[in-house]
Amino acid sequence: MDLIKDIDIISAEEAASCEVKVSEEGSKTAEKKLYIESYGCQMNFSDSEIVTSIMKKDGFDTTSNFEDADVVFINTCSIREKAEQTVRNRLQNFNKIKRQKPEMLIGILGCMAERLKAQLLEEEKIVDIVVGPDAYRDLPALVKQAEDGSKGVNTFLSREETYGDISPIRLNSNGVTAFISIMRGCDNMCSFCVVPFTRGRERSRDPHSIVAEAQELFKNGYREVTLLGQNVDSYKWSPEQNNKARLNSTLAKDEESVSEIVNFANLLEMVAKVDSKLRVRFSTSHPKDITDEVLHTMKKYDNICKYIHLPAQSGNTRVLELMNRTYDREWYLNRVDAIREILGEECGISSDMIAGFCTETEEEHEDTLSLMDYVKYDFSYMFMYSERPGTLAAKKFEDDIPEPIKKRRLQEIIARQKEISIERNKLDIGKTVEVLIEGTSKRSEEQLQGRNSANKVVIFDRKEGLEKGQYVHVKINDCSAATLFGELV
Ligand code: SAH
Ligand code: SF4
Ligand code: F3S
Repeated sequence: MDLIKDIDIISAEEAASCEVKVSEEGSKTAEKKLYIESYGCQMNFSDSEIVTSIMKKDGFDTTSNFEDADVVFINTCSIREKAEQTVRNRLQNFNKIKRQKPEMLIGILGCMAERLKAQLLEEEKIVDIVVGPDAYRDLPALVKQAEDGSKGVNTFLSREETYGDISPIRLNSNGVTAFISIMRGCDNMCSFCVVPFTRGRERSRDPHSIVAEAQELFKNGYREVTLLGQNVDSYKWSPEQNNKARLNSTLAKDEESVSEIVNFANLLEMVAKVDSKLRVRFSTSHPKDITDEVLHTMKKYDNICKYIHLPAQSGNTRVLELMNRTYDREWYLNRVDAIREILGEECGISSDMIAGFCTETEEEHEDTLSLMDYVKYDFSYMFMYSERPGTLAAKKFEDDIPEPIKKRRLQEIIARQKEISIERNKLDIGKTVEVLIEGTSKRSEEQLQGRNSANKVVIFDRKEGLEKGQYVHVKINDCSAATLFGELV
């Protein structure tokens, strides 16, 4: 822990007292029950933990059974049409309960709330509250308003809100790994993407509060944090922001100012220094912004995991240009070469791919497959293009690739990824890897599971005395496309 002396941080005690107070107040006065369900990306799940903290302070306890709840929140995603449809279907289930229990309040939070605003109240009659991602501090007031019979909407997007002073209440936690939100919003304008509209302008969170949250998690037994942002490489905290935040914050009052700009590489280093036994991951990296400085920082610290989620979206330069990704195929491959050069073959790389973007030809689709062959992704998240209202692509281009073709291209991408994943995993057979135990394997009570540095799930036989949160060495002797199997050494 003495490694952190040179960093400007708030005391762990201070952060601890915040969190204790929140949960105690919550349970002492709790009469009402909150049920919260989350969809979409990790940022949304992380936001639900902030929302829970805000509601606990207002006297709500959480319940995992929505039939018991006084208030139901659905934290929603708008990224593809299907994501919104899932939420609408779910509202039908809640409707059945609400008919028997009309006083139960239903709130829609997150990206769908932001995109549709008050329109949602018109379309979904059972909804009482609509709150966008930057207005969660207003939730207790909006709930009171709804209890008094008037529906509440707040979809104000902020240029400053980072919830930096709120200690999240961890939900569905394994007690070992946790997410830390380091920034909000997105200033990129990828033409297919709804996020800049639902999450607003990009802003970075105070590094002191990030380090304090990591310290607090470590103190409570957590051994891995994932730093979250839509584009973590553009994280930036300036001395001016620092002074402004200090005036408004109760957290950082007695600390020295940061005298220089803190970029993402600096932040990674600050969090890595919290403790060498705390693993650090991050997501998502943007190919246009990931720097060699970040790669060198990763190399310098063993506890920064050697894994990068670097979404390509397409392997073709013309399509990338239409997508407004602001890099071309060559640039992307250059970044991959830099990763391999600095961090070696063992660094895990994953991607997001979109099949059937507007005007994509068969040859251009083939370019995506050949990019995959070159990079050899460990895994990918793969999607069919789904047009989103209001985005640049929806305004400028026709969604002209027929669904069966999109589907077929997606199947080809998925099949290719599966082959490559197996090929990559086979390279690990015979090697010994360090694994952080996350808990019992889903396959069998007799086995434990965790991940290696490159983010691969590793399963091995349980041994007396081993617990989650411990590091072990496992020799890999088999694999599937998604998992490594091994034995303790
Ligand atoms: N900020 C991250 C991605 C956030 S959204 C990044 O820039 O990489 C997660 C993924 O959803 C995207 O990477 C993209 O592959 C996919 N996605 C976004 N909009 C989409 C759309 N309209 N149709 C299909 N997939 C989409
Ligand atoms: Fe969307 Fe692009 Fe921002 Fe990612 S970087 S959230 S894909 S606009
Ligand atoms: Fe979905 Fe919003 Fe995340 S649209 S992917 S929940 S930022």
